[in-house]
Amino acid sequence: MDVSAITSAFVSDELERTRLRTLEVLAPLSVNELTAQHSELMSPLVWDFAHIAHFEELWLLRELGGDAPTEARFDDVYDAFKHPRKDRPALDLLGVDDARVFAAGVRKRVLDGLAGDGLGSAADLEGNDDQLRREGFVYGMIVQHEQQHIETMLATLQLSQTPYPIPDASPPAGDPDAVGEISIAGGTFTMGTDDEAWAYDNERPAHAQFVAPFRIDRTPVTNDAYFEFVGAGGYRDDTAWSDAGREWRDEAALEQPEFWSAGPDGSWGRQRFGRWEPVPPSEPVQHVCWYEADAFARWAGKRLPTEAEWEYAASWDANRGTAARFPWGNGAPDPLRANLGGARFAPDPVGSHPAGVSASGCHQMVGDVWEWTASEFTGYPGFAPFPYREYSEVFFDGGYRILRGGSWATDASATRTTFRNWDLPIRRQIFAGFRCAS
Ligand code: AVJ
Ligand code: FE
Repeated sequence: MDVSAITSAFVSDELERTRLRTLEVLAPLSVNELTAQHSELMSPLVWDFAHIAHFEELWLLRELGGDAPTEARFDDVYDAFKHPRKDRPALDLLGVDDARVFAAGVRKRVLDGLAGDGLGSAADLEGNDDQLRREGFVYGMIVQHEQQHIETMLATLQLSQTPYPIPDASPPAGDPDAVGEISIAGGTFTMGTDDEAWAYDNERPAHAQFVAPFRIDRTPVTNDAYFEFVGAGGYRDDTAWSDAGREWRDEAALEQPEFWSAGPDGSWGRQRFGRWEPVPPSEPVQHVCWYEADAFARWAGKRLPTEAEWEYAASWDANRGTAARFPWGNGAPDPLRANLGGARFAPDPVGSHPAGVSASGCHQMVGDVWEWTASEFTGYPGFAPFPYREYSEVFFDGGYRILRGGSWATDASATRTTFRNWDLPIRRQIFAGFRCAS
């Protein structure tokens, strides 16, 4: 992002755009749907909503402004580390109306600050040597946090299986010729970032990273390719599964991606936001866990890319020796370049975003589906936790696998070629697929 563009007006616009989206996502839901727990893996939606507001109060009003908390008990109820998701329905949560009042009240005070000449004003953001305020970092953290929870809430709604209104938009045309592998000569590239204003601690510092020559799929693995894996008995082919993957496959009785079911004629259908539909063959597969992605790759005689290989293929222009913020360059995402922001509530067919191809020739590295990589989540050399250990550091070396790129549900503000997402290798409710390497 161009640092000079980070003005108080820009920050206000991003906060408001994000809140409108939160309210739009929640608007079709009844009080019961907002307060119920749809899955033990997820929070009640009203918890996510009040947690967003509490996090904003904590950082923008209390930490920056020295304000008093609205209610001290929220520090317990809305701290993600205090109570696991399955226990959250039993907490003394704000009701839907009270959560709306809380969120709107916090937001009004934040926007008033940004419009005035105090906190968040132009003078406050520019040239500030406080690391939190510099280049609006902490505001960017709050925007991204709310956007990340919007994606989490969409995953909750997908899990809930109750019909949820989704846009009636037809997919762009795919390109079957996009499928295939490319060879990348490898070498040393710049991984991570020092100068991306709103990058998280785990994306820093930029460092020279060597990658040996490798091959990588030009597109995410399609449903069509995954039909073959399932049809050929890939789930029962023990040689394709790691020991841990085999154990989990047996325990969880994995037989196909989550939300898929076979129709009477044997063809695959899926539940998408509460409605059944045939599985579209040319879309990237989604709702597979890391173990399934790893097994598919082995079955195909390949493997998952490391996150260094993924980032090289997504960001590095070997001819110019430069890394780009997005696969297509440093320009802002738009609908031709990438499927982000919940435009269609599904991944787009492979090859449907030629304007978004990376310098190395890979399609759809940002948007559509998060892509599982082989790598475990850990800090880069020289990692320093900022501004709090619980964003990244407490998850390091805990068996979490890295996902890259962002999904159809991810907002443009919450992904880039250096962005690192992570989850446990058993998780399938996230909008994740993968591509293979060799
Ligand atoms: C980066 C998506 C793994 O949802 O656990 C939200 C983001 N951190 N609130 C998560 C996050 C704190 C995080 N992920
Ligand atoms: Fe959070």
